[in-house]
Amino acid sequence: MSTASPLDEQQIRDRLAEIGAQIAADYAEEPPILVGVLKGAVMVMADLARSIDLKVEMDWMAVSSYGSGTKSSGVVRILKDLSGDITGRNVLIVEDIIDSGLTLKWSLANLRSRGPKSVEIATSLRKPEAARVEIDVKYVGFDIPNEFVIGYGLDHAENYRNLPYVGVLARSVYED
Ligand code: PRP
Repeated sequence: MSTASPLDEQQIRDRLAEIGAQIAADYAEEPPILVGVLKGAVMVMADLARSIDLKVEMDWMAVSSYGSGTKSSGVVRILKDLSGDITGRNVLIVEDIIDSGLTLKWSLANLRSRGPKSVEIATSLRKPEAARVEIDVKYVGFDIPNEFVIGYGLDHAENYRNLPYVGVLARSVYED
């Protein structure tokens, strides 16, 4: 696993190719349903799915921290649910970033309550210093420092998601 920030397109592509090959090997017997968590996971879902040489299915969920604007409260509501049934299936959650881990903890419990065969996690980025809960993450692209990162699906006020690389947002953009 690499530790780097920011990350250029080549670094991301190379690492996702490695993870995709690992996923293809791990799930050769029974391919997973990839569950992308909107909106941030769109980019990693598209690239990771194409690097897995298996017949994977793709589905999507959108979740949001409940109530106030404070993210990562751990109280989550479903904005868009899966379109398919995951009972008895291998599920691989695809995330762009694990920050506190609270959103994912909730999503994991929610999906596990639906009777899947297995639920694992793949994320392009993780911030170990920001973790507030222990989560077992099977596939991690990059562990990064606890900085405000944007691009490759990650936003600031809904902007920058379409950058093909991961950058650190200048403090002047979000501090007065
Ligand atoms: C981001 C990200 C994760 C979550 C991580 O989503 O995609 O789902 O936050 O935070 P946590 O580990 O502290 O819970 P966000 O709520 O910003 O929605 P978005 O994907 O639509 O940008």
